[in-house]
Amino acid sequence: MEYSTISLENREGVCIAKINRPKALNALNPDVLNDLVKLAHEVNENSEIKLLVLTGEGDKAFVAGADIAAMQSMSPLEANRFCQLGHQAMSMIENCRKPVIAAVNGFCLGGGLELALSCDFIYASEKAKLGLPEVNLGIFPGFGGTQRLPRLIGKNRAKELIFTAAMLSAQQAQEWGIVNKVCSPESLLEEVEKTAHEILKKGPVAIELAKRSVNEGTDLDINSGLALEKAIFPSIFSTEDKNEGITAFLEKRAANFKGQ
Ligand code: CAA
Repeated sequence: MEYSTISLENREGVCIAKINRPKALNALNPDVLNDLVKLAHEVNENSEIKLLVLTGEGDKAFVAGADIAAMQSMSPLEANRFCQLGHQAMSMIENCRKPVIAAVNGFCLGGGLELALSCDFIYASEKAKLGLPEVNLGIFPGFGGTQRLPRLIGKNRAKELIFTAAMLSAQQAQEWGIVNKVCSPESLLEEVEKTAHEILKKGPVAIELAKRSVNEGTDLDINSGLALEKAIFPSIFSTEDKNEGITAFLEKRAANFKGQ
């Protein structure tokens, strides 16, 4: 597929997607949001892509938010369309069938943090700054931040971050449970790829179903979540991967999963 704002590189099944508007600190305008929707479709459909890594072009920003210039003259109707498109892009990334890792290489603000929160987890460079500074502009997070962040770190910490517009260092964001791992800027992609290749050794269908169970289950009460897991679990027993994984263990050899 053709993208006007994202560059792609496939490294042995790990697709590195760089949001490519460095002059605007990779801000999310409608073109980028449409490209993210297309990208999520491509990742789902293209068998050569096993895992997606999202990062920002340049050494300054992952994504510095929704495009402020694009929002300046938006009518409420246009803002509604922009918000719908932002939500569609975030949800498609969140519900991608394959794993998605955010490699946060710099400013990760507003819509940028909302995008990173839609990924399965976040690794960040020690230079990164993360926050939801929308109230500085007299608006508030509109691409899922008021919903995904409290579910991740709790209501009170989320409200403090949103109300104060504070920018957290990568280290603080790790302490707050937003970032899984902090890396030097030079080693960020290497560390992400190392984890990606660990994941790719596992059963792909098992990862896909585990992701569904976690994503769909965390929004339910515990009994409904457990019921969901019980409903999904038996389906893995119809896969070749399950036979291969269990046989390989019993034969004391590495499994060779085919994703079927
Ligand atoms: N949208 C559009 N352009 C942006 C941008 C954004 N979110 N963030 C930065 N830029 C542009 C700047 O306007 C500037 O462009 P020019 O060179 O043409 O002037 C360029 O990127 C470089 O930025 P700065 O000169 O400001 O760089 P800096 O190092 O001095 O500051 C920064 C970096 C602290 C990230 C600062 O750019 C900043 O505060 N950006 C805005 C962050 C923000 O408020 N994000 C939330 C956006 S609203 C949102 O996301 C809504 C939502 O939830 C849906």
